[in-house]
Amino acid sequence: MTGFGSHFASEAIEGALPVGQNSPQQTPFGLYAEQLSGTAFTAPRLHNFRSWLYRLRPSANHGAFKPYEVKTRLETAPFQRPPSPNRMRWNPLPIPSEPTDFIDGIVTYGGNGDVGTGGGIGIHVYACNRSMERVFFNADGELLIVPEQGGLTIVTEFGVIDLEPQQIAVIPRGVRMRVELKGASARGYICENYGALFRLPDLGPIGANGLANPRDFETPVAAYEDIDQPVELVQKFQGGLWTTTLDHSPFDVVAWHGNLAPYRYDLRRFNTINTVSFDHPDPSIFTVLTSPTDTPGTANCDFVIFPPRWMVAEHTFRPPWFHRNVMSEFMGLITGAYDAKADGFSPGGASLHNQMSGHGPDQASYDAAVNADLKPHKQENTMAFMFESRAVIRTTDFAMESPAMQLDYDDVWSNFEKGNPHS
Ligand SMILES: [Fe+2]
Repeated sequence: MTGFGSHFASEAIEGALPVGQNSPQQTPFGLYAEQLSGTAFTAPRLHNFRSWLYRLRPSANHGAFKPYEVKTRLETAPFQRPPSPNRMRWNPLPIPSEPTDFIDGIVTYGGNGDVGTGGGIGIHVYACNRSMERVFFNADGELLIVPEQGGLTIVTEFGVIDLEPQQIAVIPRGVRMRVELKGASARGYICENYGALFRLPDLGPIGANGLANPRDFETPVAAYEDIDQPVELVQKFQGGLWTTTLDHSPFDVVAWHGNLAPYRYDLRRFNTINTVSFDHPDPSIFTVLTSPTDTPGTANCDFVIFPPRWMVAEHTFRPPWFHRNVMSEFMGLITGAYDAKADGFSPGGASLHNQMSGHGPDQASYDAAVNADLKPHKQENTMAFMFESRAVIRTTDFAMESPAMQLDYDDVWSNFEKGNPHS
């Protein structure tokens, strides 16, 4: 089913959805009606997201959760380590050699805000080599999953999402999920959004079409498991991981309707808009999704991509320019190369340019750009992305002490020749 934020209705068995009401005295097939609220009951209608699930058992049917004792590198804001003003870049995270599923394969690089007050983000990389044989849900925020390597099958209460690199999935807060690997291993990035739900950006003078079009967002159809066997259920709650064991599969939703649901989007469908004269617009022109704050135009998180595109600007420095930003920028690379960096920024790697830190093209990219013959040029085979946030991104001990950190990153900008106003 397609459409961003649409009101969907889906039933795995015909007749499972009640007609004309949400919770009749007796639901079809004796299913249990349950509402999942992704926003406050009283959120304005345009931004009010909830769904009704019709399931074999109420999701309340579980015992107490106990602390999850396995060592984890999954961390949650507020982060205690003092933030660093330094520019940072990391080599790709290695695929683990020990058996590691999606939950245990998540490593937190940083984030901002405070999960307790519902603002900010967590930034993670996952690297795993086993399908989950248990179930996870995140009570702390929605998960924007950006695969870089390896396909995933994400089984959810709402149905199944098949995901491959250059596609993204968003799993709403609280939704049960099981991540299975299609190949031997998988790696990618996660933005955990504690704040307002991701939505499509407004388009202003662009008009009614363009950027990520609503019809390209795909939501799964109802599919359920009727399995009466022990299943471990792990949840993340205010930064802590907790576990319990159910006596049945929690993927027992036979039908559902509503506008809160997981979704998938293929980044290759992004309708890229850019200059056809000179200079180039701010990178916000590449925004796929935005999590707004109470301050207009100032995002808790913008998810921005740098897709293949034609470069046609005349008498213009075409790569991303040098700049300093009030927003903080975490970047990753899904495939190919990024046009501001000749090397050092690899698929699966990452960079962080925090508030007011100067950054931009490296020497090789700069030299190539100022000497380029400015014919129309197609930037091919690339897909970089950015999680851009209004608050400074604090890094974790793992990120700061990782051997993957490039300690010489500053050198990228150290050899630029002085400009000569007397020439
Ligand atoms: Fe930037």
